[in-house]
Amino acid sequence: MPGDYFRRLEPGEIFADPKPLEVDLGCGDGSFLIDLAAAHPERHFLGVERLLGRVRKVCRLATRRGLANLRVLRLESRYTVEWLLPPASVSRLHLLCPDPWPKARHHRRRLVQQEFLAAVWEVLEPGGEFLFKTDHEEYHEWVIEEVARYNCGGGFETLEWPEDAFYYPKTDFQRLWEGEGKKLQSLRLRKPPEG
Ligand SMILES: C[S@@+](CC[C@H](N)C(=O)[O-])C[C@H]1O[C@@H](n2cnc3c(N)ncnc32)[C@H](O)[C@@H]1O
Repeated sequence: MPGDYFRRLEPGEIFADPKPLEVDLGCGDGSFLIDLAAAHPERHFLGVERLLGRVRKVCRLATRRGLANLRVLRLESRYTVEWLLPPASVSRLHLLCPDPWPKARHHRRRLVQQEFLAAVWEVLEPGGEFLFKTDHEEYHEWVIEEVARYNCGGGFETLEWPEDAFYYPKTDFQRLWEGEGKKLQSLRLRKPPEG
């Protein structure tokens, strides 16, 4: 738990030793995060999840597997990115199978909006990536359009994301949707490296 929810965290307050930080927004039951943290002891992982039961479950599993490089924050994703994470502190930010809010009158509840993208830009380190997956084709299109509007000719680069690009475990919801025959859409964005 942060000592103070009303100021930005210093990098050393999340993990004391400096290693690349990955953040999973809406980490759910956390199997993706746990598998990734187990595969990368040289990196740090922070799950963000608003439901206490899920936070407890991820913490329990992480403890059982002895993962000292994983922490979970029980908080709202947008608040975390816009107000808590230190600038240029995140190497990869994952948003996987978020609620698509399909009804038009609920679109304003979607996480990916202009203010959110501006905050993602701020918290990513140069060369850092924002990785997004959804089973909802219209939300995928929405994100592409929001990013194009945010970029206005500059900004995020879109990278290829072939399945074998790097180890990327399936999430619980991905397994669920693929089990129902749905296909996931992906987007891999990068804040350009400096220089
Ligand atoms: C559809 S599930 C996806 C979980 C996981 N990413 C996966 O792919 O299996 C969405 C998760 O995000 C959490 N969530 C939804 N909105 C959130 C928010 N604004 N802040 C934090 N967590 C949120 C939900 O409680 C849920 O666990």
